[in-house]
Amino acid sequence: MAPTTPDIDGILAELTRAEKLSLVHGAVDPEGTATGYLPGVERVGVPPFRMVDGPLGVRAEGKRATAFPASLATAATFDPGLAREQAAAMAREATAHGQYSLLAPGVNIIRVPHCGRNFEYLSEDPVLAADISRSLVEGIQSEDVVATVKHFVANNQETHRTTVSADVDERTLRELYLPPFRAAVEAGVGSVMTAYNRVNGTHMSDHERLVGDVLKDEWGFGGYVVSDWYGLETTVGAANAGLDVEMPGIPVEPDEGEFEWPDGIPDATHAGLFGEPLGAAIDDGSVPPERLDDMARRVLGQMARIGLFNDAERTGELDSERHRDVAERVAARGTVLLDNDGVLPLADDADVALVGPHVYEPKLGGGGSSETTPIHAVSPVDGFEARADGSVTVARGVEEIESVSLFDLLPFVEGGREDTESPGPDTDPSLDAAVDAAAEAEVAVVLVRDATTEARDRDSLSLPGRQDELVEAVAAANDRTVVVLRTGGPVETPWRDDVAAVVEQWYPGQADGDALASVLYGDRDPAGRLPVTFAPEETYPTTDERRFPGVDDVARYDEGVFVGYRHFDSADADPTYSFGHGHSYAAFEYGDPRVDDGTVSIRVENVGERPGREVVQAYVRPPEDAPVDRPVRELGGFASVPLSPGESRTVTLTLDELAFSRYDSASGWTVDSGTYTVEIGRSAADIRGTVGVER
Ligand code: BGC
Repeated sequence: MAPTTPDIDGILAELTRAEKLSLVHGAVDPEGTATGYLPGVERVGVPPFRMVDGPLGVRAEGKRATAFPASLATAATFDPGLAREQAAAMAREATAHGQYSLLAPGVNIIRVPHCGRNFEYLSEDPVLAADISRSLVEGIQSEDVVATVKHFVANNQETHRTTVSADVDERTLRELYLPPFRAAVEAGVGSVMTAYNRVNGTHMSDHERLVGDVLKDEWGFGGYVVSDWYGLETTVGAANAGLDVEMPGIPVEPDEGEFEWPDGIPDATHAGLFGEPLGAAIDDGSVPPERLDDMARRVLGQMARIGLFNDAERTGELDSERHRDVAERVAARGTVLLDNDGVLPLADDADVALVGPHVYEPKLGGGGSSETTPIHAVSPVDGFEARADGSVTVARGVEEIESVSLFDLLPFVEGGREDTESPGPDTDPSLDAAVDAAAEAEVAVVLVRDATTEARDRDSLSLPGRQDELVEAVAAANDRTVVVLRTGGPVETPWRDDVAAVVEQWYPGQADGDALASVLYGDRDPAGRLPVTFAPEETYPTTDERRFPGVDDVARYDEGVFVGYRHFDSADADPTYSFGHGHSYAAFEYGDPRVDDGTVSIRVENVGERPGREVVQAYVRPPEDAPVDRPVRELGGFASVPLSPGESRTVTLTLDELAFSRYDSASGWTVDSGTYTVEIGRSAADIRGTVGVER
């Protein structure tokens, strides 16, 4: 059936003002599944519209769905094609649950290693974050679901997130924090969610310069801008700044009486600002009536774009083979092999001690609005028992780590993950039993984790509880100890010299145990690379409290563009594990790079004995005499390339003008003239070849 093109202006002309208002602020979903709901206008054939969280899969109230890996794991694949596949699968699941917009992807730059939402984000690097952002948007929208890129912009911490002002200069915004959003807009994203925080003093829902001027006028964003939930501060300021839709639009009154809203939680009694108050603001002339037409037109435009005015049935797809498969492939491909003295891959018949307080539980994600409840999930114990030919002895060793969730902070809000499986035997864990199991096994695999959530930042980069003690005790008992980190960002690894291998699995989602076993036994190459630098806690630039969490509700971003490896390079400091780092079971040799007309090519050969995947990275070093302080190197492009033993390939990466540019607040994007060095490497600290480029 040919899609019908609805006459949006014709529909708009028929709507009463009350009907238009109903298209720009949320209401109660009669089905109770949506995170945000617009009732539609049946009289003129405008259907209801449902928006649902989130970046790790669908969180429709009371429903289950595939629990995909954390976005950080997706980014660690350095593979936009795979990210697109995951996003398309999430969108089909949204459709299966009757939802039209997914509140994803989350693309804020990882500025603060402690941020409780880093697992929902992509990288410290704007080029990696932009490329993955673009592909996630394309994937979601390829299935006729509206993607919602969030949180625009500079929402880089959870502490005081509803009040803090990110004090950030224009160059830093343009070079670091805006690119992943711009990439989403270039990919045609249908919706942008504003952040809870302020930027340079102005709340993001009221930010005319960033929302109206930059996003809409300069970038030409044609979709709708939606507030974060209860994140609207004013009616007039927001409407005139360019905000289009208020969510969820319905106030919540806690029955506790005088409820003190915890830090990081917006005041949910403050809602409905785009209902009657917007009508009144139009009446008194403080908001032009055309603004309301524009808001409604933008919403209708997205409904039309995904075919909601057609009568075609939307079927979607849920928990299918291919969805389980992509969830597992991303989990495995995002796994990063940080250190390996040769203990990995494991022999099929190795006798293994599997140790850790949560070995019976799949690590699905962090806490908050991205919590999904899977239909099917594989714990590490299940995954190992299914794969191992040798014996698997299980010991938890130390007490469980308390999980934290945003929903625990709000007694009157329903939501969050439903219970899945039992966390194992009902006995107290014993460190001695874990040490004995490790001593008797050929290999000890210790699984450790952090506990992060939206609305809270971590207070330390150390592993919580007694997990460091557990690793040290196991490592003392078995010199073939493999530590598997399951964390939402960088953590301290004080025992790393005492263990045989360290693996970072992030939050792998429902495929956890299967994905882990497939990588540790070598069925798959660990092809993940670090999208964030791991360094000692006190060496990050945000150690200064003026920068994080800020003083008097102002977080000064005066480290400028020197975030992540840009900081460690300029400070000439060696991080623990560099950006882009990750070993493979294969071994790669690089030829000499060649530059030609905006591309750089390099021959890469797998000289190892196993098939592997190399992530080839191109960094650009600016001319020595650049007129302003520029980072030592910046990622310009990358590619994840599969190579069989003995196979070689020429990998060609595109380096566009932005790869050589810096942002100048007076003249905009500027390419300093001089000799640039293009570095080809395995990470920001492992450069294999260089070539000069004149600009
Ligand atoms: C989060 C958003 C989320 C929204 C709806 C907010 O707390 O910041 O990312 O989409 O809630 O659940």
